[in-house]
Amino acid sequence: MNFSTELIFALATILLIPIYYYFTKLRRIEKFFENFPNPPTVPILGNARDFRSGPAFFKSIHEYTRKYGNMVHIKIGPIGHVLLASDYKFLEFLLSHNKLLTKSINLKFLEPWIGTGLVTANGGPKWKTHRRLITPAFHFKILEQFVDIFESAGNILIQKLSKESGEKSVDIYPYVTRCTLDVICETAMGTKVDVQNSETSLYFHSVKEMCRIFLARTTSILKRYDSIFRFTKDYEIQKKSVEVLHGYTKSVINSKRKELEETRKEGNYSDVDDLGRKKKKVFLDLILEATVDGQSLSDEEIREEVDTFMFGGHDTTATATSFILYCLGQNKDVQDKVLEEQEQIFGGEKCPKVTYTNLQEMKYLENVIKEGLRLYSPVPLFGRRIDQDVEYDGKIIPNGVGVIVFSHGIHMNPEYYPNPEKFDPSRFDNVEGKQPFAFIPFSAGPRNCIGQKYAMLEIKCLLSKIVRNFELSPAFPRHEMILAPETVLKSLNGVKIGIKSR
Ligand code: HEM
Repeated sequence: MNFSTELIFALATILLIPIYYYFTKLRRIEKFFENFPNPPTVPILGNARDFRSGPAFFKSIHEYTRKYGNMVHIKIGPIGHVLLASDYKFLEFLLSHNKLLTKSINLKFLEPWIGTGLVTANGGPKWKTHRRLITPAFHFKILEQFVDIFESAGNILIQKLSKESGEKSVDIYPYVTRCTLDVICETAMGTKVDVQNSETSLYFHSVKEMCRIFLARTTSILKRYDSIFRFTKDYEIQKKSVEVLHGYTKSVINSKRKELEETRKEGNYSDVDDLGRKKKKVFLDLILEATVDGQSLSDEEIREEVDTFMFGGHDTTATATSFILYCLGQNKDVQDKVLEEQEQIFGGEKCPKVTYTNLQEMKYLENVIKEGLRLYSPVPLFGRRIDQDVEYDGKIIPNGVGVIVFSHGIHMNPEYYPNPEKFDPSRFDNVEGKQPFAFIPFSAGPRNCIGQKYAMLEIKCLLSKIVRNFELSPAFPRHEMILAPETVLKSLNGVKIGIKSR
């Protein structure tokens, strides 16, 4: 063998080995998927032809589950396979497994903004340490002090909605999403961005652009490749948006860090302010101070986590609040019962000083929220990637299998929720003996939503305030929402209801 033959041989080996492994892996995955029904496909595209738009995708996966069962094989393109899962036993297995913690691959499109914070992290040691470090920040004692922030942002929302009160229907989503962004900025960083009062907030605009680009990359066959995305207009928009978002978060972290160091240096740290009121601690303060086993987070890691809250903590609560208001508009009997409960607690006062204890007393409203989260889960599906061979039900699930956890699918299963299309909060009257993995709007198990108690409290606070102040009715003319699972569940034609001041 001369030198050039040797070189060709070496290069061929270098190329062929990965190809061999790739196809062996793919073959195992394809073999695994033979166990599950697959809706009719077309050549090359597979089932992707059913996913032309967000609403078409949402309708199709719903239809597949109804027709083919709770474990469906979906083919995307010539070699893509994913398991659409809404089977109780399987979800229990997957979500409670303490090794299957890796998220789906598309979440990496969020990394330019939120890095590898809790939502995007792969479930390894970094995620574990951060989760342990951040969990105490969601203790009820901390949430209790956020009620004032929910209240004051909610009061601005009421002022804004008052201007819309009357005969005309209003799309409430834009109002609510501005309110929840104000809330998350103040509770996460302690700063008032006040997007409810500023028409052109660059921060608000950048958050919305990053969510849009995430969706565009997730659904595009071309933009998902970095090498192609780099040449698109969205890449430039992303660069500018990330600059704005990181610039803001970093400057807040810097000034908080300085503040903390100075108070520590001077040794005059006090829990009360100059007026003797207990100082509020926001997430950023708590993360800056937190240490577990001698470990604390670097400024860059803190930035990732604060930005993660900004991403995960405002659109979700905005969707939930808006869709539940829609349900209340459609269901006068339920709305009346919510109001009755409010009157029992506040004796008919429209703008009382609401406390944490008051919010805990709103038991009926809590069931209304749960039912809203069931019927319109803000995160109706989420992904997992199986990153090691695991045995389930006597079979091996091979490394590399992608799973869509279709929470909306199990929430609409008549076996668990008879007459599932009906908005009926009484389903949650008695939860004893109910199966926990049949209600998973916040996921479940080790990677469940860290912000669920915060979310329930904020939503309760906003809904109770709105119901005390306005009578809600169905939109006129009748409004049928067009649903699409974007970064969270969205209605493409708005969330319209009638509102009249009480
Ligand atoms: C109604 C409101 C909310 C809903 C429906 C919701 C839903 C979810 C779901 C389904 C997950 C799991 C996602 C997955 O496995 O890919 C999740 C994770 C997460 N959520 Fe929420 N969420 C809400 C509000 C919030 C809020 C207010 C915050 C923060 C303030 C937050 C922070 C997070 C974080 C950090 C994670 C990742 C946890 C981890 O993997 O360790 N969420 N959420």
